[in-house]
This record gives sequence, structure tokens and C-alpha cells, in this order.
Amino acid sequence: MPVHSFFSLLFLLLLCSRADAFFGHAVIRCQFNSLDDIVYLAQYHFNKMLMLQFNSTLGNYTGYTKRSKEVADTLNNIPTFIKREEKNLKTCQSHASMVFDLLSNPVEPSVRLKSADAAGSKHQRMLICSVHGFYPKHIRVTWQKNGNNVTSDVTSTDELSNGNWLYQIHSYLEFTPKTGEKITCMVEHASLTEPKLYEWDPTVESQRNKFAVGTAGLLLGLVFLVTGLIYFKKKNTGRILVPTS
Ligand SMILES: *[C@@H]1O[C@H](CO)[C@@H](O)[C@H](O)[C@H]1NC(C)=O
Repeated sequence: MPVHSFFSLLFLLLLCSRADAFFGHAVIRCQFNSLDDIVYLAQYHFNKMLMLQFNSTLGNYTGYTKRSKEVADTLNNIPTFIKREEKNLKTCQSHASMVFDLLSNPVEPSVRLKSADAAGSKHQRMLICSVHGFYPKHIRVTWQKNGNNVTSDVTSTDELSNGNWLYQIHSYLEFTPKTGEKITCMVEHASLTEPKLYEWDPTVESQRNKFAVGTAGLLLGLVFLVTGLIYFKKKNTGRILVPTS
């Protein structure tokens, strides 16, 4: 860069950054994490300081200096201004859903099936089908017993927003275990080309139970062994001690 143009650039910069130079700018923001949570913000800055802001969640203008507080009060009492900002929120909402539709590919959920005691129910057990991290919101979670749809004893949460753009849902089936009965949780979602089936495997649980019983048995055996050894030792030294537990 030639020296003179360097200096003229510097001069220009100095001119623009004079301390008493006025610079106003406004920032219009359309913020969203999910379609249920869209905020329209209009922020008016003066010399880089935020003076006035319309926040659609609050539905009014807020001033941040004495003077701009007065302006905010005035604007809040003029229905046409508030109406216009409400219209801007509508635009923001429609753009947001467009962005979601165009830019986000469906996200496949991860599914976990587990069982729990069914408290306060005519059935003993409850299966929980937990479906996590899917997008878009629309989903179908259903149950089948031996391939037949089950609708009774089924409850479900709504599609819950994770706070980012993903959702989760939990479906519950109360049931009385029957040997040989095949229970599946079926998930239908835009991310899946066909319904996905998750079969309940009762052996996972019974294996866990067997393991617990085995461990308890082992512990009990150890207690007897130790008691026996103590008894044997005491007897050999001429005294009999009946252990108390
Ligand atoms: C807008 O208002 C809501 C509700 O009071 C608040 O939670 C949010 O932080 C505000 N946004 C900004 C950028 O001030």
C-alpha cells in the first residue's frame, strides 16, 4: 500500500472515531432454539450503547437510560408501534419454521426399553419406552403384544422439548408378565424409512435377578463357612461358642 493512501486511511479512521461522533444503529434479531420458543428483539443502539429494546416475550419496549425510558413509555402507549412489532414477531415465527423445515434434516431418536414396578395399578409391572433426541417433533410411539396393537394400559408424555431443537417422549405400558408373550415398542418417525421395533427382552432382567440371587447365596455361604470355622476353632481349643449374629 502506498504511504500516502495509508495515511489517508488512518486519517479517515481518526475522523470516524472522534469521541464526539454520533453513531446509531439498530439490530433486529429473530432468536429461536425451537419453534415453541421464538423471541423477536429490536435493539436500538447509540454510540454502541443499548438504549431501547423491544422484546417480544415481554411485549413492550424497555429503555435503558433516563431519556430512553421516557421514549419507551411513550412508544408502549402507542398501539400502532406495539402492533407493528407484533407483526414483526409473526414474520420472525414464519421465517423460523421455514428455516427449521429447510435446514434441519430429521434426527433419528435413540430408544431405551426398561421395566419398573407398576405402583398403584392392577398390573405388576410397567414397561417404559424412552425415545430421546429426535427432530422433528411429530412422532408415534405404540405398543404391540405378539404383533397385535395394544392401546389399553398405555400412557405417554407429550413430546418434550430438550431446550435445543430436539425432543423426547416416554411411553408407558402396564402389564402382567406372561411367559412367551412378546412385547414390542414401535417408533414411527420422519427419520426412519420404516417403523422401528424394539422388543422387550425379559431375560435381561431375569439374568440380573439371577445374578443378585447368586451373589446373595454366595454371601450366605461365606457367613456359614466363617461361622463354622470359628466354631471348629473354639471347639478345638476346648470351648464352645455359639455365635450370635
Ligand atoms: C426477553 O425477555 C425475556 C422474559 O423476561 C427474558 O427472559 C429474555 O432474557 C429477554 N431477552 C433479552 C435479550 O433481553
